[in-house]
Amino acid sequence: MNAGLEDVVAASTVLSDVDGKNGRLIIRGSSLDDLVTNDRYENVLALLFAGFFPQTPSLPAALGAARAEIFDHLTAVDPTLLTLPPVDAMRALLARLDDGDDLSAALRLVAAPAVFIPALLRLKAGKSAIAPQPASSHAADTLRMMTGDIPSPEQTAALDRYLVTVADHGLNASTFAARVVASTRAGLTSSVLAALSALKGPLHGGAPGPVLDMLDAAATPDNAPNWIAAELARGERLMGFGHRVYRVRDPRADALKSAVRLLAGAGAIDPARLALAEAVERTALDQLKAKKPDRPLDTNVEFYTALLLEALGFPRQAFTGVFAMGRVGGWIAHAREQAETGRLIRPRSLYIGPQPQAAA
Ligand code: ACO
Repeated sequence: MNAGLEDVVAASTVLSDVDGKNGRLIIRGSSLDDLVTNDRYENVLALLFAGFFPQTPSLPAALGAARAEIFDHLTAVDPTLLTLPPVDAMRALLARLDDGDDLSAALRLVAAPAVFIPALLRLKAGKSAIAPQPASSHAADTLRMMTGDIPSPEQTAALDRYLVTVADHGLNASTFAARVVASTRAGLTSSVLAALSALKGPLHGGAPGPVLDMLDAAATPDNAPNWIAAELARGERLMGFGHRVYRVRDPRADALKSAVRLLAGAGAIDPARLALAEAVERTALDQLKAKKPDRPLDTNVEFYTALLLEALGFPRQAFTGVFAMGRVGGWIAHAREQAETGRLIRPRSLYIGPQPQAAA
C-alpha cells in the first residue's frame, strides 16, 4: 500500500502531464508557458474537450450562451444559501443542474462557477446580480459580473492567464475524485460535484485564502522571518509551499507571477503587498530548506494565486470558487475520458481491524 497513493499510476490520459522533476506542465502537447502566453481560456477548453465532444467552431459563443442560461438558475438562491461560504453555496446551486454527458451539459457546468461566484458575492453584499454578456470573453465577463465595471485589458488578461494556468493538472485529488465518479457512469454534474468537494480542502484548492492570512499575520517584510520561524516551530504548514509531485518550483507559480507583474505594471496591485509577498516567499523558502533539507519544498500555484485574485478584487472566501472556474474544464475532460476509456475504479483496502471472536 502507498499512503496517499503516492506514485501510484491510476489512469492513462491524453490530457496533461505533470513533470515533477523538471517542473514542467504539458497540456495536450503544449507547454503551460506557451498556452499562458498565447491562448485564451476558451482555446484551452477547446483543446481539452477535443475528441470528447463534437467540435464546435463557436465554443466561445456557446459558452457565452451557457452563461446566460445559467444566470436563470439564480432564482434558486434563498437566504440560507447566502449565509454559506461562496464555494458551498455554489455547490448547492450546481447540484441542481441536469446530470448530462453532452456538450451542452459540459458548457453549463463550465459556465456555472463564472456566473454563480460573482452573483453570490453581490447578493451576499445586498446588491443585485449582473447578467452575463454572452459576446464577452469568459474572463472579462466574470470580472464585469462581479464589479459592474468593464475590466481593464490587464485585469482581463490576468484572470485569463489564471484560468489557463489552473485548467488541468494531471491526477490531482479533485480530478481523481471526478474520475472515480465518472467511472461509475454517473453524469458530469455528479463528477464535478465530487471534484469541487475535494478541491475545497486547505491541502488542495483551499490554500490561497490562508496564504493571504499568512501575509496579514507576517505584516511586514522585517517581521516575516520571526513569524515564519514561530509557525514552523509550532509544526504548522506554510500555505502555498510544497507539492506531492513537484520537487522543484511549480511552473504555475511563475506563470502566475508573470500575471501579477502585468497587473503591477498597470498599477493594479499594491506595491507594498507585492514586496511583502516576495519577502515572505524568500524567507519561507530559506527556512523550509533549513528545516527539511531532504524534502524539497518550493512555491506552489497557490502562493501567487492569492496575490492575483486579491488584486482582481475577489474576496479570499471566494478563491476556491474561482479556482473551480478554471479547473472545471479539466474535470469534465477527465470525466469524459474516464467514462469512454476507463474501467470502474474500485481499489482494495487492507483490513487492520479485529477478527470476529470464535463462538465459545
Ligand atoms: N510547510 C511546512 N512543512 C511542510 C509543508 C509546508 N507547506 N509541506 C510539506 N511539509 C512537510 C510535512 O510536514 C512533512 O514533514 P514530516 O515528514 O516531518 O511529517 C513533509 O514536509 C512531507 O509532507 P507530506 O505531507 O508527506 O507531503 P504531501 O505530498 O502529502 O503534501 C501538500 C503535499 C499537501 C501540498 C503539502 O506540501 C502542504 O500541506 N502544503 C501546504 C498547503 C498547500 O499549499 N496546498 C496547495 C497545494 S497545490 C494544489 O493542490 C493546487
